[in-house]
Amino acid sequence: MMKIAEQSACGKSILLGEHAVVYGQPAIAVPMEDIRAYAWIEENNDKEGVRVEAIDLDEEIIIEDENKHQFAIVINDLIKKNKTEKLNFTVKLTSEIPQSVGMGSSAATSAAVCRCVAKYLGISLSQEEESELVFRAEEVVHGTPSGIDNNVIVYEKPILFVKGEAPKILHSKKDLYIVIGQSGVESSTMEMVKNIRKLVKENPNEFEIKFDKIGKLVEESEKNIENGRVDKIGVLMNENQEILREMQLSHPELETIIEIAKRAGALGAKLTGKGGGGNVVAISDKVETQKLIANSIEGAGYRVCKTKVGATL
Ligand code: MEV
Repeated sequence: MMKIAEQSACGKSILLGEHAVVYGQPAIAVPMEDIRAYAWIEENNDKEGVRVEAIDLDEEIIIEDENKHQFAIVINDLIKKNKTEKLNFTVKLTSEIPQSVGMGSSAATSAAVCRCVAKYLGISLSQEEESELVFRAEEVVHGTPSGIDNNVIVYEKPILFVKGEAPKILHSKKDLYIVIGQSGVESSTMEMVKNIRKLVKENPNEFEIKFDKIGKLVEESEKNIENGRVDKIGVLMNENQEILREMQLSHPELETIIEIAKRAGALGAKLTGKGGGGNVVAISDKVETQKLIANSIEGAGYRVCKTKVGATL
């Protein structure tokens, strides 16, 4: 059958600032352009109404008014804008982004569905509107997200993000080569954010100091992205990892991958996203070292993916 209105959205990785970003500190995130979620429309001949078929999960979601599913939030909003009485279509969805490992799978699938349904219904959304709609879907999945995932995925650019503010697009003086090492250990963003919230309640002063420190590391990193000092960003990422470790967000598998990456020449390596499992992000200023890091992690039995923040300054 013909794929109507096919659209896609990318995955993401956080370079620095996860968790602290929920408490108002800045964070830096990059798009993973080569790992994407895809959505397209098939018009229903034999079925009534609107549904989403998540092909990889073998799951069908029926979109009704009172449905609180992430895709229902997105599609119902677009249907209201369209004002057509009777709609009859299925959104087919497939994704290359691993789920529950901190790569933005939920925001990317919501964004792909949003783009595809908007195109099909002839609705034009600004990036700001699209990001806001995906954020509302993220609230259903994650509880109290900061908004970093929807922003980096919708704008598909490296960003500095502060909760409640428009993202600042970052420009790098030098190519930044990134390797993501996947521990294969799943964890829930909602749970990890809840765990931290509990610890913050018990020790507010200690966490305020930690979050402030992380915020400073992020600000320094932003300057070093602009200056092309990838070595310094690496050091700042390592310092960020130390604080995340103290916050009980690391995992033995993540520590193993971090060590492998550093031994292979990574300038910095840390967990990325919610932690408790999930992925490691490692950086280098050379494509050869990026390959070496990726091969070493893969050689130890973990999956990897690579991306580059290209120089734009
Ligand atoms: C999730 O990708 C990053 C966290 O900081 C949560 C959030 O910002 O919503 C852990």
